[in-house]
Amino acid sequence: MEKKGSQRYGTLLQHPLLLVLALAISFVIMDPFKMGPLGDHDFKPVKHDLAPYKQVMENWPRDNRSRLGSGNLEFVDEVFGPESLEFDSLGRGPYAGLADGRVVRWMGEDVGWETFALVTSNWSEKLCSRGVDSTTSRQWKHEKLCGRPLGLRFHKESGNLYIADAYYGLLVVGPEGGIATPLATHLGGDPILFANDLDIHRNGSIFFTDTSKRYDRVDHFFILLEGESTGRLLRYDPPTKTTHVVLDGLAFPNGVQLSRDQTFIVFTETTNCRLMKYWLKGPKTGKVELVANLPGFPDNVRLNDRGPILGCNRLLQDSSTGGSYSQSMDEECLFPVTDPNEVLSLDDGHEDVHSCIPLQ
Ligand SMILES: *[C@@H]1O[C@H](CO)[C@@H](O)[C@H](O)[C@H]1NC(C)=O
Ligand SMILES: *[C@@H]1O[C@H](CO)[C@@H](O)[C@H](O)[C@H]1NC(C)=O
Ligand SMILES: *[C@@H]1O[C@H](CO)[C@@H](O)[C@H](O)[C@H]1NC(C)=O
Repeated sequence: MEKKGSQRYGTLLQHPLLLVLALAISFVIMDPFKMGPLGDHDFKPVKHDLAPYKQVMENWPRDNRSRLGSGNLEFVDEVFGPESLEFDSLGRGPYAGLADGRVVRWMGEDVGWETFALVTSNWSEKLCSRGVDSTTSRQWKHEKLCGRPLGLRFHKESGNLYIADAYYGLLVVGPEGGIATPLATHLGGDPILFANDLDIHRNGSIFFTDTSKRYDRVDHFFILLEGESTGRLLRYDPPTKTTHVVLDGLAFPNGVQLSRDQTFIVFTETTNCRLMKYWLKGPKTGKVELVANLPGFPDNVRLNDRGPILGCNRLLQDSSTGGSYSQSMDEECLFPVTDPNEVLSLDDGHEDVHSCIPLQ
């Protein structure tokens, strides 16, 4: 054994190239300077039981008319990383949260896009709003300061706009816009690290997702990579100004949508590629159920006006990557759904699937 070992050592010394290669490999494996993608992370992979790939894909036939691919791409090079589209009670909009931290609204051809709200008074045009640059990794350094509004919802009665911001938590701004007021930034002394989307209950309570207790939006890829499930569904009650944990231990909770009759709330679990529902009323109150396994990573989920209740999801709506506005502008169902039971799944070859599923 001893002899064999020293022989191998000898071989390495005689072949300097081999020695360099061996050193390079150990450098990569040991990563002494924490330069690798997992460099500074306390990486704790988690296993999940998921439906088999084949079984999931069989439920999602390709849309052979490629309807998403044949849609019009609007506002190219005008707004970057738009997420969560809303219209106000006067029908104006869309309103959208951008990668540069602004909430903007479309005011028609003459006015164009105007800044409606900011999530922090620290926002400055010079630092935050740098066009398409704001969607590249250079913006990631400024995101914490500039904000990243991901979830938007108008409260129909008051006209107030509620905002879930990845860095500034849950906020609200009046119908005239301006600097939003924080409502929930901490829970039990810990910061809400990654607020993502929200919906407003008829009784005024706001349900919103906090995607992870460990990683913020810039590091969201680690949530997927690890499968870590520290995400939560939270509820903010305006009368008492208090925030409560509704569900804990979720794997990348993302979009939220209350059912029309308010008996349940639907949310997406991005890591597990699925749509879940949580019962708020009736015999199943407090229970969590699977609604559908999806053929990709869902983001937001919204009701459709047509037919009974339809859930829609957008895939790869990762607005942080440059030039992804085509994937981000249409998270609502863009396609007329004539048959309420239609299951629509689209893949236009850009890893982009749009699906609508009837919810009972
Ligand atoms: C497209 O899909 C529909 C429904 O799955 C099917 O009835 C139709 O025959 C398909 N058309 C083509 C051209 O493949
Ligand atoms: C603005 O930035 C300063 C310095 O980073 C920070 O102390 C302060 O809390 C920020 N203000 C707001 C409203 O975020
Ligand atoms: C609104 O309804 C939800 C769901 O039933 C409940 O958890 C919440 O406490 C209610 N909020 C108020 C302000 O009554």
